[in-house]
Amino acid sequence: MSVLNVTLKDNEYKIYIGKDSILNLRDYLKGKSRYFIIADHNAFINHGKQFLKDMNNPPEDMIFVSGEKDKTLQKAETILSRMVQAKMTRSDYVVSLGGGVCGDIAGFCSSVYMRGIKYFQIPTTLLSQVDSSVGGKCGVNLKEGKNLIGTFHQPSGVFIDRSLLDTLPEREMKCGKAEVIKTALIKDSSLVEKIDSGHDITSIEFIESCIDIKRKVVENDQFDYGERMLLNFGHTLGHAIEAISGYGKLSHGEAISIGMAVITKLSEKYHYSESGTYDHLIRILKMHGLPYEYKEDMNKLFNYISNDKKNMNNKMNIVFLKKPGQAYIHSTSLVNLYNMLGSL
Ligand SMILES: NC(=O)c1ccc[n+]([C@@H]2O[C@H](COP(=O)([O-])OP(=O)(O)OC[C@H]3O[C@@H](n4cnc5c(N)ncnc54)[C@H](O)[C@@H]3O)[C@@H](O)[C@H]2O)c1
Repeated sequence: MSVLNVTLKDNEYKIYIGKDSILNLRDYLKGKSRYFIIADHNAFINHGKQFLKDMNNPPEDMIFVSGEKDKTLQKAETILSRMVQAKMTRSDYVVSLGGGVCGDIAGFCSSVYMRGIKYFQIPTTLLSQVDSSVGGKCGVNLKEGKNLIGTFHQPSGVFIDRSLLDTLPEREMKCGKAEVIKTALIKDSSLVEKIDSGHDITSIEFIESCIDIKRKVVENDQFDYGERMLLNFGHTLGHAIEAISGYGKLSHGEAISIGMAVITKLSEKYHYSESGTYDHLIRILKMHGLPYEYKEDMNKLFNYISNDKKNMNNKMNIVFLKKPGQAYIHSTSLVNLYNMLGSL
């Protein structure tokens, strides 16, 4: 088992990676019998029994979430009420057992419940094991857009067990692959080379490399004012594409995949990326069965982007690849972006 330390200015926690890593959670809960589980429905069906067996004490209560449609303020309110009914106090714990949706809403509820209680992440999807479980970004969606309500609240520990992914549907696995590919593309040319040569990008080695990259980025820029924005590569367009197509039609990963492709087509056309970057990206996406074509109206895309929370004073920070393995932040005006998108 490997252990990575996330060291922040006012906080520190560990990421345990490997089989049986979840057993370490028992030590955190020792003597603190009170904890509340927020679990993804499918993750719990498949792994809940074993999880409860692994813990010494049963939880006070538990509540289930089921995918993106549950990432709402209404659901958060229901969870928070149940936490009150379970008489959770600030010295108790929340445990999230699920993917990115579960982790984001569990973190959000933990951050606002009595002005903040501790929580742990047990990520059960590839996306959450390589990305969302670390870094403390939590939140819910509004009908106006994804993740518009949120907080920064770091978990007190993250427990990654690759075997939890054995029950993950193929489509969800693909979703996580898009984040693995994103992570390699923005930061690590040696990982890109491994992807090119056909390594299994869902292996524990890839998971560890990706979460280690995330850890370092978060350590350098906890509150997303600089380097952390690189993790948004493909996401500004991806979120827009996901919303325009109607939540649930395209998976998050599929939308991000198309977002990475569209933005790289644009950046190469305007010489922000080295020539060949787009073709290289498309080769990788095709290798992993990920979509890359955006077929809807560019105006719809632009209208959605103009309302993005990353859009400040009609300027946007966009992440471009210089080349695969190296990304940078480019600031542009909305008008400029509109013209560039319109020319694709
Ligand atoms: N906080 C962050 O830094 C961050 C980063 C990236 C993405 N996100 C968020 O993550 C969310 C997407 O996360 P996700 O892709 O994990 O989706 P998800 O949590 O909805 O899970 C995807 C599907 O897999 C099922 N599932 C989960 N674990 C399972 C298992 N072990 N076996 C069988 N089925 C299982 C779920 O029921 C769901 O249907 C988005 O809301 C996105 O905004 C957050």
